Amino acid sequence: MHVHLVTIFPEFFATPLAVGIPKRARDVGALRVSLVDLREYTNDRHRSTDDYPYGGGPGMVMKAEPIIDALEAVRAGAPRVRRVLLSPRGPVLSHARAAALALESDLALVCGRYEGVDERVRHFVDEELSIGDYVLSGGEAAALVVLDAVARLLPGVLGNAESAATESFVSGLLEYPHYTRPEIVRGIGVPPILLSGDHAAVARWREAQARELTNRVRPDLVEE
Ligand code: ADE
Repeated sequence: MHVHLVTIFPEFFATPLAVGIPKRARDVGALRVSLVDLREYTNDRHRSTDDYPYGGGPGMVMKAEPIIDALEAVRAGAPRVRRVLLSPRGPVLSHARAAALALESDLALVCGRYEGVDERVRHFVDEELSIGDYVLSGGEAAALVVLDAVARLLPGVLGNAESAATESFVSGLLEYPHYTRPEIVRGIGVPPILLSGDHAAVARWREAQARELTNRVRPDLVEE
């Protein structure tokens, strides 16, 4: 997959793309990332990407044309690109949505800033996505969340083929609790069943734990 990050802060992504799963995804050739600097699509002396809102009011609005031009440039090289605007106005990202996006060949993630983007940008994207019901100072952090959630689902990225299939949200439940050495931490032990060597019993315990945990902290997931 080729991800095109459309942003006024390309430098925002340097470290996150150079570590962990996004790095591994790039190293194995499952992921390619291009940074699309919106300032390169401005045509005034100050290279402005924002302006005052029509009708007045506080804050600045991101100009439509640099974003539209940048998306058209991406599309010229990748005609099938799926264009996603990160914004608190979109539906909230889910595992199902990330899994669907992971099937795309090209993904353009448009990072808004300031008070918002010129409404006309919405005519030039395929969908809008939020990462949660709060307002970020910009879409960069949200784009990174989407990129991370998608990158780890790309074929060949996760070491253990099972780790993406058994985790939270795939089954509709939160994941069961994990423990590793040492056996006692600050006086707190490991549930004895995990030391029993009885794999079937461990599997039953984990399933029960996942259900109890989900019922307790995310009853909304159980409803679904
Ligand atoms: N931009 C600002 N807030 C956001 C959010 N919650 N999700 C996605 N993009 C955003």
